[in-house]
Amino acid sequence: MRLVVDNVSKSFGDKKVLDSISMTLEEGELVCLLGASGVGKSTLFHIISGLLLPDEGRVLLDGEDVTGKPGRISYMLQKDMMLPYKTVLDNVALPLMIKKGPENKAGFMGKRKAREKAASYFGEFGLAGYEKKYPSQLSGGMRQRAALLRTYLFSGNVALLDEPFSALDTITKGKMHQWYLSIMEEIHLSTLFITHDMDEAIVLSDRIYILGGSPAVIQEEIRVEEDKPRSEEFKVSQEFMAYKKRILEYVR
Ligand SMILES: Nc1ncnc2c1ncn2[C@@H]1O[C@H](COP(=O)(O)OP(=O)(O)O)[C@@H](O)[C@H]1O
Ligand SMILES: [Mg+2]
Repeated sequence: MRLVVDNVSKSFGDKKVLDSISMTLEEGELVCLLGASGVGKSTLFHIISGLLLPDEGRVLLDGEDVTGKPGRISYMLQKDMMLPYKTVLDNVALPLMIKKGPENKAGFMGKRKAREKAASYFGEFGLAGYEKKYPSQLSGGMRQRAALLRTYLFSGNVALLDEPFSALDTITKGKMHQWYLSIMEEIHLSTLFITHDMDEAIVLSDRIYILGGSPAVIQEEIRVEEDKPRSEEFKVSQEFMAYKKRILEYVR
């Protein structure tokens, strides 16, 4: 699926936050949105996911206007919490039980079916054996994978992730990057990814959009040419540093 953001602008009261933002996400791509805190990244994601209406502009999914239509694009919120009193499986399956969607027009999949469908992904998401545990019994990385699975099951093959790995330690984060890139291929996912971590953006992205200014505009688009998955050597290479320098010109 191809996502197009076409000239989106948004104000809150008399404060203009987003000014004519246009971007694309091609099928299978991982594109990072990089920008300082408060610049308007989450606002843009709310608009793309259909939860918030723009003042101007449109969001298109395979050419179809989905502006203001939630449920078509998977959106993992910055703080995607799991219900502590429900098992991991029920947390993941919950959206399927209440979902309105192509395979579930009545807006309800019976509990048993929803659990079965969710459980069938537990292996791929590194959660096998944890179906009946509670969220507090999972490691940070596992909790994020469970939240990602829930997000994926809720909608479809375009995912918006708002700083999904920012709370993880460096080593866990590195493992999650490798895992995420492989699962993206396996389940044919395209991803728009918010981060303020330059290294993370360079390691993961096919392209990076730099969002900056007030109101925010797309200041630069950078294509990262290195093949994926990217090696540890790449992370300390001249090329890597050159990408970082280019980004720093804007982020400073
Ligand atoms: N619902 C809202 N009402 C008023 N102002 C908002 C609302 N949501 C966000 N803002 C403001 O818009 C700006 C961008 O916020 P946000 O999109 O959360 O930035 P980021 O995710 O890049 O940190 C901030 O100044 C924030 O205070
Ligand atoms: Mg934010």
